[in-house]
Amino acid sequence: MTETTAGSDWQAWQHSWDRQQEWYMPDREERFRVMLDMVEALVGPEPRVLDLACGTGSITARLLRRLPGATSVGVDQDPALLTIAEGTFASDERVTLVTADLKDPGWTRRLPHSSYDAVLTGNVR
Ligand SMILES: C[S@@+](CC[C@H](N)C(=O)[O-])C[C@H]1O[C@@H](n2cnc3c(N)ncnc32)[C@H](O)[C@@H]1O
Repeated sequence: MTETTAGSDWQAWQHSWDRQQEWYMPDREERFRVMLDMVEALVGPEPRVLDLACGTGSITARLLRRLPGATSVGVDQDPALLTIAEGTFASDERVTLVTADLKDPGWTRRLPHSSYDAVLTGNVR
């Protein structure tokens, strides 16, 4: 039987995205874990994080599961992936999503804050 992902089942979209990304990077989950180990060790349990090229918000989701007191600003330029992120975090005040092209020299002007405790990213291409 073929599994499909449709409509606004955001968790299903996230699961589908994770499976696709893990095909390219089998140790992706371990990389995320180590990344968050570093954040927690260096800046504590309530960091303000910038999730660069956030896609569907995979890093942000893991951040908030592990450190519920964290906040995250996710930046990406892909409208489809940002739609999944917006659906996933719609009622979560800890998350802000920003549409921006990181190649645009003025992209930081779109951010809500001028400083962050940690800047995270994974697999930008
Ligand atoms: C392979 S995905 C990784 C997404 C997410 N970090 C993850 O690990 O699931 C790469 C992301 O980089 C974003 N990206 C690539 N170039 C970008 C640019 N110039 N500005 C903003 N986002 C960009 C893409 O839209 C995509 O969401």
